[in-house]
Amino acid sequence: MAKMWAGRAEKETAQIADDFNSSLHFDCRMYRQDITGSMAHAAMLSHCGILTEQEAQTLVLGLAGIMADLDEGKLAFDPAAEDIHMFVEQVLTERLGDVGKKLHTARSRNDQVALDLRLYLRQEIAAIRGLVLALLAVLTDKAEQYKDAIMPGYTHMQRAQGVTFGHHLMAYAMMLQRDVGRLDDTAGRMDVSPIGCCALAGTTFPIDRVWEAQQLGFSSVALNSMDGVSDRDFCVEFLSACAVLMMHLSRFSEELILWSSWEFRFVELDDGFTTGSSIMPQKKNPDMAELCRGKTGRVYGDLMALLTTLKGLPLAYNKDMQEDKEAVFDCVDTVKMCLQVFTPMIATMKPCVENMYKAAQKGFLNATDLADYLTKKGVPFRTAYKISGQLVSWCIHHDTVLEALPLETLQQYSDVFDEDVYPAITLENCVARRTSLGGPASVEAQIAAVKDYLSQQQTEQKGE
Ligand code: ARG
Repeated sequence: MAKMWAGRAEKETAQIADDFNSSLHFDCRMYRQDITGSMAHAAMLSHCGILTEQEAQTLVLGLAGIMADLDEGKLAFDPAAEDIHMFVEQVLTERLGDVGKKLHTARSRNDQVALDLRLYLRQEIAAIRGLVLALLAVLTDKAEQYKDAIMPGYTHMQRAQGVTFGHHLMAYAMMLQRDVGRLDDTAGRMDVSPIGCCALAGTTFPIDRVWEAQQLGFSSVALNSMDGVSDRDFCVEFLSACAVLMMHLSRFSEELILWSSWEFRFVELDDGFTTGSSIMPQKKNPDMAELCRGKTGRVYGDLMALLTTLKGLPLAYNKDMQEDKEAVFDCVDTVKMCLQVFTPMIATMKPCVENMYKAAQKGFLNATDLADYLTKKGVPFRTAYKISGQLVSWCIHHDTVLEALPLETLQQYSDVFDEDVYPAITLENCVARRTSLGGPASVEAQIAAVKDYLSQQQTEQKGE
């Protein structure tokens, strides 16, 4: 078939080259954005007197018909069309005749694809943002429910100090809140219209880029046409925000996998979010968490793929940039799916608080508190640290714990020890007294802050 762009060619392209060149099988998912952009373009052309009102109206109606037919599955994508932009224009011309051929005045697929991708990502960022907020809400509720459930906190995967399950969960809430911020930053910087940059050097037609941008809901327009068509920073930023989000889900997944093992038994994942083994009947595998951890690699890959594609590309548009979409689409699908599984998995997860508590009783989580006790009585911290360490060593050799040592034994190490040491080193007090800002005993403030943030988001959404 003769190509719409067959300007100077003397013969047709090879079939294999057509197949290689075609992006329709993946960019067809942007048909709504492409048609919306074309409607605004037709309206702008008539607004500026480049097309008549009648022509613009015919184009807009024709485009609306194509959108409806695609929505309803009445129109199939023609694999022979090179990309979504060509496909829509081809159908429009088939349906409207010559007027269809006027749509592409003062436009190029270069600014068109940049526009479509921004419109598409605007919508997907909002969707992902909503999913992160939903997870954040579930997480905060769980944290509130288990704000007093004592568990060991770890450093180097060694039991370190007492925390609560709520405190641990709220750490992830903080990460997710930053993830929302990163998505918002991306959306903010992406809110710039490239349409009207045309192929690379603008146009001789008296177009109104600002008017067209406003029709499409953009706050501003790209000021340099060469940058407008070659900029894919917004895709890189989106992929990078998603990579960080996935890194958080992956770390969380890792903990869920550990916690649901027999070695820990800190949580029990719901049967709805685990699988069995085809050979070992006793197994309950945390596949969903493992997949979220695994799929993080895909999203990192999408980011690396696009960065590598863009590296060294001269200005302005180059066909290499067609590769942007598969990376972005794969990331969108992966992140959405992971969040959709992760949230109900957290909502249905059952923490085993007795096991956490038992684990916290072992491992000398109160060794720092013992040193702090001495320090508060005037012993320099480094000396107190040493005494506490020696006592831990004594306990290990005698198979006992700090809180079980008789006062006489303690006093052999420091005459500062008194009866009041015992309440100072109970597990409950070690946690309850960590009231410093951000500590486990101030978790209620963290929960309240996130809840405030969530309700603010809800009000903003309603106001939109
Ligand atoms: N399918 C192309 C892409 O995804 C659209 C832009 C093509 N422009 C061109 N002059 N060949 O990047």
